[in-house]
Amino acid sequence: MATLEINDLHVSVETENGPNEILRGVDLTVKQGETHAIMGPNGSGKSTLAYSLAGHPKYAITGGSVTLDGEDVLEMTPDERARAGVFLAMQYPVEVPGVSVSNFLRTSATALRGEAPKLRLWVKEVKEAMERLQIDPSFAERNVNEGFSGGEKKRHEILQLELLKPKIAILDETDSGLDVDALRVVSEGVNRVRESGEVGTMLITHYTRILRYIKPDHVHVFAKGRIAESGGPELADKLEEEGYEEYVKGGAAS
Ligand SMILES: Nc1ncnc2c1ncn2[C@@H]1O[C@H](COP(=O)(O)OP(=O)(O)OP(=O)(O)O)[C@@H](O)[C@H]1O
Ligand SMILES: [Mg+2]
Repeated sequence: MATLEINDLHVSVETENGPNEILRGVDLTVKQGETHAIMGPNGSGKSTLAYSLAGHPKYAITGGSVTLDGEDVLEMTPDERARAGVFLAMQYPVEVPGVSVSNFLRTSATALRGEAPKLRLWVKEVKEAMERLQIDPSFAERNVNEGFSGGEKKRHEILQLELLKPKIAILDETDSGLDVDALRVVSEGVNRVRESGEVGTMLITHYTRILRYIKPDHVHVFAKGRIAESGGPELADKLEEEGYEEYVKGGAAS
């Protein structure tokens, strides 16, 4: 079982006024097969954690460690992290002009699997995955995310997730901007991947809405750059009722 282990992670960004520490000692362990919901107020550092794990150059690691099966993730380039099995679905997916969805997926799959998937099987695999996610076949020939609506981008992220089958999937607000039907379709995609038992999922979200479809094993409250509290699914219900005030004001987070 693959295990992602984050220990006392500190991360800063460079600003006009010098470095600004955003992550202040994050501890989290995610194993293959587990689903962790990470909930927390705006600006608490959830996306920063996601980007830092994926290796975004903007974020400077100033302390702590991240390992995947004992291998130092922080030493790896973003590309190596992806090949090691770390997948990030971004809160704001970027457009990749000049690269079609179909090419993008095949190139990614080739890099991850170490060899190009057999063309005929691959075409079938992609077609079926697109059908399950109710993505129109014409999207295969469109450039990645170019002109996609918010919801279409999120579906495309889940298409990648299903086809690339990472060890650790970080889904940053994959639920935001989805209508009810899309939320269901996307959640079903996440659940299919989850049921394989081969993926550990970090589901970053603001609302318990998506947790009606995807039942987390663990829920964490993220506040002021660290995990302020962890619990089971009941913690999400408490957050929905009481909000994050307790964690933002001090108390558990300080
Ligand atoms: N590249 C950057 N430059 C300057 N500040 C940054 C940068 N990235 C993040 N920050 C700051 O770090 C803090 C945490 O941002 P982050 O995007 O991680 O929050 P979040 O928890 O994902 O919020 P949201 O729920 O709104 O998505 C914010 O105050 C943000 O302005
Ligand atoms: Mg965010």
